[in-house]
Amino acid sequence: MSNASTDQVLEVVLPGVVEPEGLELRRRERPVPAAGQALVRVEATGVSFAEKQMRKAKYYDQPAFPFVPGYDLVGVVAEVGPGVAPALVGRRFAALTKIGGWATHVLVDAADLVPVPDGVDAAEAEALVVNGITAWRMLHGIAKVEAGQTVLVLGASGGVGSLLTQLATLAGARVIGTASARHHDAVRALGAVPVDYRDADVPARVRELAPGGVDAVFDHVGGPGLVDSYRLLAPRGTLVAYGTASTKDEPGSSRLPVLKLFLRLLWWNALPNGHSATFFNVWAGRRNAARFRAELARDLGSVFALLARGALNPRVAARVPLERVVDAVRLAESGTVSGKVVLVP
Ligand SMILES: NC(=O)c1ccc[n+]([C@@H]2O[C@H](COP(=O)([O-])OP(=O)(O)OC[C@H]3O[C@@H](n4cnc5c(N)ncnc54)[C@H](OP(=O)(O)O)[C@@H]3O)[C@@H](O)[C@H]2O)c1
Repeated sequence: MSNASTDQVLEVVLPGVVEPEGLELRRRERPVPAAGQALVRVEATGVSFAEKQMRKAKYYDQPAFPFVPGYDLVGVVAEVGPGVAPALVGRRFAALTKIGGWATHVLVDAADLVPVPDGVDAAEAEALVVNGITAWRMLHGIAKVEAGQTVLVLGASGGVGSLLTQLATLAGARVIGTASARHHDAVRALGAVPVDYRDADVPARVRELAPGGVDAVFDHVGGPGLVDSYRLLAPRGTLVAYGTASTKDEPGSSRLPVLKLFLRLLWWNALPNGHSATFFNVWAGRRNAARFRAELARDLGSVFALLARGALNPRVAARVPLERVVDAVRLAESGTVSGKVVLVP
């Protein structure tokens, strides 16, 4: 533990559009949980693609600066507020927070806590929170991938992509996965056939492997390549778009690329060709809080159950102390690692 005293917490502040070195460490009084809240002592919190975008003010609906980043976490309940079962204290949970996770202690609504099974590693469980729910829902909820199908996973070496690859393989599907050449062995080890996304003609490479097209494409890149993803679909195939990574360094509005993508998907869905095209957003439906929480607990519970029985490899690329957040962010953004960089306060 890095606290100066047990009455203080350490957190990372993103003050504005800065290089990773501009992230600030701040100590403050340990917060007291209000009614319905739990104070979680964080054991692991992930460095996600979302924070790369937030650091550039390019995340779709990020809060105003300054704020504490941190999309998800795993930790042990240290204290509970009025109305929360005292039995939660000492138990390990996961939470999807979007922001706020990069701290030694975090206040979370107790209703948002999802139990982590006994015996699993905190960093491994952490690597499955936002990435696991995203992969699980896109694969089973949207594309409904079945044994014998062939799917294309863009970025099969990444956090979400590596889980999509493993879950699709577990479901009996054949996976073609794009990645940089340096990660092809890792992608093969997950059960996919790798294709270099820097190849001059990626669609041709995919067609060589799947001449009749693929049953589903999972695309986080967006931009002009989305058209290739759509054209690679087999009859009745499903395109699941879930990001616009190709536009992250473009100046201007963070919303425009997403809105353009929505329009394109709407247009494709209006075509009478049997394909479907969907944008996945992990926060969709959160206005109905009770249902959102129940579905989150169900889906993350399914992913955690696979982890507990050893069926999933969460691929933790590195465990970095919270004080070394700059190194963690630099590493995550270096493109050299495959898997999730996890901060361990
Ligand atoms: N919509 C949602 O609710 C939701 C939820 C979670 C995540 N996401 C999105 O999911 C995306 C991935 O997140 P992550 O945490 O998995 O990121 P990550 O771990 O950084 O992985 C990124 C992956 O993209 C690959 N890649 C880079 N450039 C590419 C290109 N031009 N074509 C194809 N692949 C390329 C990388 O391959 P190499 O490492 O081999 O270079 C890597 O496999 C992000 O855009 C994020 O915003 C969306």
